[in-house]
Parts: sequence; structure tokens; C-alpha cells
Amino acid sequence: MDYENNINYWDGRYYAPNVESFIFRFYGRVLKHDFGIDGSNQEKVFDFGCGEGGALNFFHEKGFDVYGVDIAENDINQAKLSLARKTRKEPVGRAHFELIDPHPRANQRYFESIHNGTEWIDVAISIQTLDFLSDTDCEIVLQNIYNQMKPGSVIFASFNGYQMYYRNHGQYIGDGLWHIKFANDRVSYDLNLNFIESKEKLAQKFHMFTPKYMDYYDSSFRNEGSEFRWTFTGTKE
Ligand SMILES: C[S@@+](CC[C@H](N)C(=O)[O-])C[C@H]1O[C@@H](n2cnc3c(N)ncnc32)[C@H](O)[C@@H]1O
Repeated sequence: MDYENNINYWDGRYYAPNVESFIFRFYGRVLKHDFGIDGSNQEKVFDFGCGEGGALNFFHEKGFDVYGVDIAENDINQAKLSLARKTRKEPVGRAHFELIDPHPRANQRYFESIHNGTEWIDVAISIQTLDFLSDTDCEIVLQNIYNQMKPGSVIFASFNGYQMYYRNHGQYIGDGLWHIKFANDRVSYDLNLNFIESKEKLAQKFHMFTPKYMDYYDSSFRNEGSEFRWTFTGTKE
């Protein structure tokens, strides 16, 4: 799949420095409450599509050892900067970022030089990122993440729902992707995006994991439409 338009779009800077509400609620209500994971043991959080590291900043503050990958160099640099500011007075080595290629490879290992071939991830997250991938590439990425997760570890990821309004401006181009092209007085989009139509399809997408919760978050601004995203919480058994 050609991701040229997605790559161009993310080439700029995506200003999102703060933790999103659904991340800190996931932390308190699910990670801590259900799994007893709170960062006190410097558990390792891996964020696929970390952007500027808003979520990882939060996990870092809670004591986690944080790892982020993204295709956008500007965002990765910004993430490094903000975490570096924070780590000045703390033990070094709890924040790691890596630039990755938009086209995933089967059996790709992240942070290989640190974790060489081991199952090292305690918590995997991916927010509003997996939906930039075709079905084929998303399967590759999820399998790669799965391979590097410890047994009993947790994944929390979001994915566009079918009712997400961008799809109203899209044309299906194959392998799960829709070409979204529209402009209004606020935005101008030319993106390829994937959407999931039901909970059953959500479970299929994350089939390698044991589902724990399949929830969602939604919002609408300026009457532009629903921004419905599924969230999948699951474990590697
Ligand atoms: C909507 S932003 C979300 C960023 C971050 N997860 C957050 O919640 O703030 C989407 C991110 O996905 C990244 N991205 C887009 N296509 C990707 C791909 N093929 N592989 C990995 N990351 C990708 C972009 O660079 C961008 O940082």
C-alpha cells in the first residue's frame, strides 16, 4: 500500500503535548484497577505511533520505563525533548524513541539493541494510529507487537469506527483503507484511513489477543460529525 499522502500529512508537527483523558482513565480504571500495574515497578510501556509523546510523558511521570515509535521525525524529536527536560533530575534511561518506516516488516523488532529478541513489553498502547494502516500491514504490526509482549501483558489501542464522520468523505480503495479527501474552512484532508464496523470485527482485528474490554470514545465539534473510536483492551496469554 502506498502511504504517500499519510506520510506528507504527518510530516508537519502534530501538536498534542498532553495526555488524553481516555489514557489516564485507562490507567486508573483498567491498568491499575484490573491488572495492578501502576508504574511502581518501572514496567515497560510501548507506544506505537507515539506522536509527541503526550501519553508516554504521563506514563513516565507514573514511573514507567517508556518506549515510543513513530514515522514522523518532528514528533519523535519533540517527544525526546520534552522527556529529556523531565528526566534531567531523574535516573537516565527511562525514555526511548525510535523513528520507524511507514511500511512495517514482518518480524520487525523495536528497540532491538536494548531488548534483543526478548518479550519485553508490559503494556502496549496505540492511539489513533493503527487506522492509518491497511488490513495487511495492521496485521503485521499487531503480530510484531504481540511477539515482543510478555505473557500476561496488556494492550490498549483505539481504532476508527464506521460511524466516524471522515468516512462520509471517503472512497474505498481496498485492503481495509478508504481514501479520505475533503476540505472545509478549518481543515484540508487527504489521507488513507481504515475503519471497523462492529465489535466482532474489532475482536477479529486483535485476534491474537484475549479480549478484556471493547469500549469506545466519541466526540463532535462544530457539528462536523462523530469521531467515534473503538478501544480494545486485551492480554497476551
Ligand atoms: C493522530 S496522531 C496520534 C499520535 C499519538 N498517538 C497521540 O495520541 O497523540 C497519529 C500518529 O500516527 C503516526 N503514523 C501515521 N502512519 C503511521 C504508520 N504507518 N506507522 C506508524 N505510525 C504512523 C503519525 O505520525 C502520528 O504521530
